[in-house]
Amino acid sequence: MTVESVKDGASAAAALREPPVAGGGVPVLGHGLRMARDPLAFMSQLRDHGDVVRLKLGPKTVYAVTTPALTGAVALSPDYIIAGPLWESLEDLLGKEGVATANGALHRRQRRTIQPAFRPDALPAYGSIMAAESHALVERWRSGEVLDITTESFRVAVRIAARCLMRGSYMDARADRICAALATLFSGMYQRMVVPLGPLYKVPIPANREFNRALADLHVLVDEIIADRRASGQKPNDLLTALLEAKDENGDPIGEQEIHDQVIAILTPGSETVGSTIMSLLLVLTEHPEVADKIRDEVKHVAGDRPVAFDDVRRLTYTANVVVETMRLYPAVWILTRRAVTDTELGGYRIPRGADLIYSPYAVQRDRRSYGRNEEFDPDRWLPERAKEVPKYAMSPFSVGNRKCPSDHFSMAELTLITAAVATAYRFAHAPDSDPRPRIGITLRPRRLMLRALPR
Ligand code: HEM
Repeated sequence: MTVESVKDGASAAAALREPPVAGGGVPVLGHGLRMARDPLAFMSQLRDHGDVVRLKLGPKTVYAVTTPALTGAVALSPDYIIAGPLWESLEDLLGKEGVATANGALHRRQRRTIQPAFRPDALPAYGSIMAAESHALVERWRSGEVLDITTESFRVAVRIAARCLMRGSYMDARADRICAALATLFSGMYQRMVVPLGPLYKVPIPANREFNRALADLHVLVDEIIADRRASGQKPNDLLTALLEAKDENGDPIGEQEIHDQVIAILTPGSETVGSTIMSLLLVLTEHPEVADKIRDEVKHVAGDRPVAFDDVRRLTYTANVVVETMRLYPAVWILTRRAVTDTELGGYRIPRGADLIYSPYAVQRDRRSYGRNEEFDPDRWLPERAKEVPKYAMSPFSVGNRKCPSDHFSMAELTLITAAVATAYRFAHAPDSDPRPRIGITLRPRRLMLRALPR
């Protein structure tokens, strides 16, 4: 590329139209109030204003991308990177050297290191842990008991991620400690995101002390796990081994900080997204008992009277479609952000260098222009002959492109197994203090799900 061609590209971008400003803004706050009040409804109506629209969030201009095709274009383009306020607010937790926040050459090297642990051919090695944890979950429950589904869902999500990716008997006890630390951190991060009081979170009041203690615990735990693995001299074929053996671009071992940040940057998003999705799945099983019955029938047909196992997953097609349809209507990752690293073009509009972009998988996946009976829960829309009618990028709960979730197959396998085990063992009904309305935080999930387990 010559200097002239770069200049030509930049001036071509400068000559393009500005995206329209979305309607409904008010002086000073712009669209901020509506976004804060009901972000799901707000994001869902933006496509009526244009394919790309400008939002005023207080003093800041943000570019919202609303069509499936253009969200795919953003995710696939090298003109945008992971950056912006959402990511900066997560740095305390995710570290600065982890794969979820790195960009450029560092990110490419890190993806090369972690990818093998998530490849489809690596999954069978995790199968017995996924199945054992799914069955242990339902075995903990008693008929008639009221279950706090938030705790139950996050616990199994953390245990599966931790035990599969950092294999070893030392993980059994530590998985619960990681879970306790992450539970405090997740709710604290949510608080910090919705009420960004900055330095006030450093004041040593009990809630801040608890948050800091949980963060310190998590760091200590990760250091202990790394030290134990090294001391054991074992090198199972898992993510931790891949990280411990990874080399940087000069062929030298990667630094201790990077190994540490990587473990946290993989465990944290992995547990939060899966935990939230399990909650949404349990909501679906509660509110659509006919769907739960069909899952139970499928499991019976595939596994007979023995407990459902990892090897059954590929034959549990209806159950997998329930998982996909749940992720369509309740995507754990409901909003994504990017920053333009150059003056560029999107859908015929000018996007200036440094612009922050947002788009919402929730809005895209519920859009009536892409889905008939768009708000209806219909797992059969994922039957092969119907699924091909879905527009490209209208269903990307794991995203696409270089930041695509490395764990899509891993997650689908564990979610399908958990759903199969749970729907076979119990029916569910809301307890009086259950509140299934969406809780919009770093991820999307039901607010407070208290379910009574009923005999099948
Ligand atoms: C990235 C969704 C489970 C690890 C992502 C992204 C999405 C996503 C949408 C892309 C973010 C972006 O484009 O900005 C999900 C969903 C899950 C899930 C819906 C389950 C229902 C997991 C699990 C793990 C994991 C189980 C690990 C154990 C990661 C990591 C990244 C990521 C490390 C960052 C990748 C990168 O930036 O290169 N996930 N995820 N995820 N996910 Fe997942």
